[in-house]
Amino acid sequence: MELDNKTIVITGASSGIGAAAARLFLQEGANVVLGARSKDKLTALAEEIDPALQRTLVVPGDVTHIAYANELVTRAEERFGGLDGAFNNAGIVGDMVPVTEMTHANWSTVMTVNLTSAFLAAQAQIPALMRRGGGSLVFTSSFVGFSNGGMPGMAAYAASKAGMLGLVQSLASEHAIDAIRVNALLPGGTVTPAGGGGNVDAMAFIAGLHPVKRMARPTEIAQAAMFMLSDRASFMTGSPMQVDGGMSVRLI
Ligand SMILES: NC(=O)c1ccc[n+]([C@@H]2O[C@H](COP(=O)([O-])OP(=O)(O)OC[C@H]3O[C@@H](n4cnc5c(N)ncnc54)[C@H](OP(=O)(O)O)[C@@H]3O)[C@@H](O)[C@H]2O)c1
Repeated sequence: MELDNKTIVITGASSGIGAAAARLFLQEGANVVLGARSKDKLTALAEEIDPALQRTLVVPGDVTHIAYANELVTRAEERFGGLDGAFNNAGIVGDMVPVTEMTHANWSTVMTVNLTSAFLAAQAQIPALMRRGGGSLVFTSSFVGFSNGGMPGMAAYAASKAGMLGLVQSLASEHAIDAIRVNALLPGGTVTPAGGGGNVDAMAFIAGLHPVKRMARPTEIAQAAMFMLSDRASFMTGSPMQVDGGMSVRLI
């Protein structure tokens, strides 16, 4: 049991990587607090993976709202007695257009959902981890905006995910003394609604960008998040962990 008795908030749990993380973390002994906007999807997942809802709590809401960031933490503490970590994973791609054609509204929305939400999550979660005497935060960044991840039409997404790395580095250095570890997870292309969205041509293109010539399964990304949330990663903080099928080291 890699996460035995740890209470973990997971955002973006209604789909893709977050839903895979919910299944995996629960299997590995965690109490999981599931966040996303879709109450129906969260409830269906919770009832499937934990029918008695003994170690699963559904807290629907929008990660761009500070009240929701706080609610995820307070509900976790009320129900399970404290918070040990969070997988801050909710995100959107936004409009895929060149910068010269991108609306200010799209830029703002993507930055708010992907990056400002991470700031709000950290502000809510760090005090709870301090009350617990330490813990671990993982933020889902991306290969896009990182080494070899220059992708046309994805400037807002790339900027939000690259900005997250700066946030993670600062948080890691600010709270290492509090026994709080903070790391970023950089998935490669992953088979989810956001990762090609079931479009066969798009998914073949994305797969071909990776030296391994395939996309990841969501659970392969969730495994890496679990490692960083577990005590096995006890000396790891401030890291951008690449789980990208070699994307960042490809030569062409
Ligand atoms: N798939 C890839 O190829 C890939 C690669 C690199 C990084 N990533 C990153 O991995 C993370 C998970 O993506 P995924 O591929 O699993 O995508 P996904 O299947 O589309 O899931 C995205 C999740 O984010 C939630 N979400 C979106 N906006 C939200 C909001 N305003 N408030 C609360 N929840 C919100 C969605 O739930 P609701 O719609 O119910 O709110 C959903 O659960 C994202 O941060 C993404 O950028 C994905």
